[in-house]
Amino acid sequence: MNLPDGFARRMVDWQLLHGRQSLPWQNTQDPYRVWLSEIMLQQTQVTTVLDYFPRFLGRFPDVAALAAAPQDDVLALWSGLGYYSRARNLHKCAQEVMGRFGGVFPRRAEDLQTLPGIGRSTAAAIAAFCFQERSAILDGNVKRVLTRVLGYGADMAVAKNEKALWALAQDLLPEQAADMPRYTQALMDLGATVCLPRKAQCEACPVSLVCRAKAQGEPLAYPVKTRKLKRSSATLWLLWAVNAQGQVWLQKRPEKGIWAGLFSLPVFESESDLLAAWPEGAEPQYIPPWKHVLTHRDLHLHPVRMLGSGQSGPASEGQWVDAQVWPGMGLPAPIRLLLAGE
Ligand code: ADE
Repeated sequence: MNLPDGFARRMVDWQLLHGRQSLPWQNTQDPYRVWLSEIMLQQTQVTTVLDYFPRFLGRFPDVAALAAAPQDDVLALWSGLGYYSRARNLHKCAQEVMGRFGGVFPRRAEDLQTLPGIGRSTAAAIAAFCFQERSAILDGNVKRVLTRVLGYGADMAVAKNEKALWALAQDLLPEQAADMPRYTQALMDLGATVCLPRKAQCEACPVSLVCRAKAQGEPLAYPVKTRKLKRSSATLWLLWAVNAQGQVWLQKRPEKGIWAGLFSLPVFESESDLLAAWPEGAEPQYIPPWKHVLTHRDLHLHPVRMLGSGQSGPASEGQWVDAQVWPGMGLPAPIRLLLAGE
């Protein structure tokens, strides 16, 4: 395939003038910071990460501190960011960096990719930002940018087509390794601010003159992806037990499945299962249910609040937790909002 003329140079020049320059994870070559920001930014908006990133660094200033922390502390700081497998992998990754690499992040994308939670694109981003490695990133935003510029209309749901795009992404890299950090940031910035999913702002794009999709008058026709992810839904009954001391009954979720490893109200599949776990005959208070939307699943949450007397809790695993304590624990966002009365 003919590559667009001067693609990398146009991108690098544009980033210097119009890209994002002063995010807290830019202007550093510290792989710990770059890694942490890339993991946070995978499924979370920049504005949210701007809030979490410094707090996380304050508590875990380096990879050794993170590796040594209890998992519950890591999940507590992650609480509200969602996609908690990221936090569990982050913790495991820190421990492997300590154990397998003597506390020093490896420099090559190929080695970074062997660590938990670091996929091919994240590995390339860390290697490019910190060590100027000529290694291509290809996350969702970058796929959109590149398929449009190249007019690459092959179905991205087919593995060999995606593989071919990886090779093209590698061919498009700047020749000079020193340009890799700015080039990589340019791709991210263009995908996040100009070449948007439902709106291609071609008038602001540094590569519009060499963009095939633009020339065809069809920038939104790319990327092509046939297989749509099926959404599912689930109903969860939440037992919100409080006692006379204002404590709430919380249990740690199993390591697999929804909200894995977090602290939650006890979850039941049905109303009758929930009521069976509460032997004291207290009056149940039905909180209006609501829908909590996850990426692949709608959760219909049905909380039932009960005021218990005495010390014994409901017939489910868990413990009474003081009202001063649970706000500092790792709770799923919807449970936190419910308990806070928001
Ligand atoms: N999204 C993913 N990585 C990013 C970065 N380095 N800067 C801004 N947004 C990003």
